[in-house]
Amino acid sequence: MELVNNKYLLNGGIDPLELCREYGTPLYVYDAAVMERQYRRITAAFSYPKLRIHYACKALSNLTVMRLFKKWGAGLDCVSIQEVQLGLMAGFQPDDILYTPNFAGADEFDEAVKLGVKINIDAIPMLENWGLHHKNVPVCLRINPHLMAGGHENISVGHIDSKFGISIHQLPHVLRVVESQGLRVEGLHMHTGSDILDVDIFLRGADILFEAARKFPELQYIDLGSGFKVPYKPDDIETDVEELGEKLSARFETFCREYGRDLTLMFEPGKFLVSESGYLFARCTLVKQTTSTVFIGLDTGFNHLIRPMFYGSYHKIVNVTEPTFKPRIYTVVGNICETDTFGIDRRIAEAVEGDIIGFYNAGAYGWMMASNYNSRPRPAEVLLYNGKAHLIRRRETVEDLVGTQIQIKM
Ligand SMILES: Cc1ncc(COP(=O)(O)O)c(C=O)c1O
Repeated sequence: MELVNNKYLLNGGIDPLELCREYGTPLYVYDAAVMERQYRRITAAFSYPKLRIHYACKALSNLTVMRLFKKWGAGLDCVSIQEVQLGLMAGFQPDDILYTPNFAGADEFDEAVKLGVKINIDAIPMLENWGLHHKNVPVCLRINPHLMAGGHENISVGHIDSKFGISIHQLPHVLRVVESQGLRVEGLHMHTGSDILDVDIFLRGADILFEAARKFPELQYIDLGSGFKVPYKPDDIETDVEELGEKLSARFETFCREYGRDLTLMFEPGKFLVSESGYLFARCTLVKQTTSTVFIGLDTGFNHLIRPMFYGSYHKIVNVTEPTFKPRIYTVVGNICETDTFGIDRRIAEAVEGDIIGFYNAGAYGWMMASNYNSRPRPAEVLLYNGKAHLIRRRETVEDLVGTQIQIKM
């Protein structure tokens, strides 16, 4: 969204204020052109030809969005059996889906086998039982390379204390299990965290997996996960995917030559593909001056965008209605009955009740982490596609809130 002649406009000249009038607030709006640009950018960054990008649909699993990524040629990264089901509904072939759960029960794995998707195992006990029921179903192994990566402790998942993956130090044990049960390991995987700043972290992780890969002669693919950082502010650091593509393509080719076969190189970005495409628009319900602070209060809260409260994420916040008014310093808060702060001491054009306030970078983990806390319905979702705005999820109602409840006689 950009300022054009002192007015915020979305791609194709679409007016966000009109969308808010038509669909109400709070409202999530996504731009398909930005998603496609990001998808093309990451695929173009790698010269290695056997590259496969799996969209991590946990970031935004609206069926229409998943169908877009399918249309552009992506596969899918799923972390629950329900994401797998959604992926199949969106038209992905089972073989294009990698199922990477964490602490899922055996029943979920059985279901995934039935559905025919690729399976990623991240715990030795699960591997030890694999041969009993699914000996002939090949697996991928999620390795924890013990790298401290990621922008916040809640999104750093490759370190020594992390619950994710099979420790690289347990490789001898894994090999004994694989050998004794005659399992077929077709993939190795790692995902060390989100918002990784330095390309070298990926390269170090890759080297660890390449070393491990030599012990598994039947590999088809190596999946280096995700963690690409996107910029949240002007001049913010972002993962240099072009540099990564250049350096990693060369290393991967060398590895494949030594391995004796060209494997598929996989990544599974979520944020990189959809973060920038999304906005959350909310209405200012009140401007409140206290003895120390001026608050902009909104008709939304951490029930709809939890990232700032959950892991301190930064979202640029603007006054969409009056972008040219003199900026003032505001703390922007939500309407939830707990501390619910989106941003402290932000320079925002002077706002009054009724103004529409816009949040950037709301495409990934925005709607998806939304809840009905305080019994408020979740927002509608609109997709800008081919120059038009399409409602792709209606706003919830109070009826939706009680739809799954069963009243008992009293
Ligand atoms: C296994 C796995 N793959 C991919 C992703 C996507 O990460 P990001 O949104 O940082 O690209 C995640 C995020 O948590 C993940 O857990």
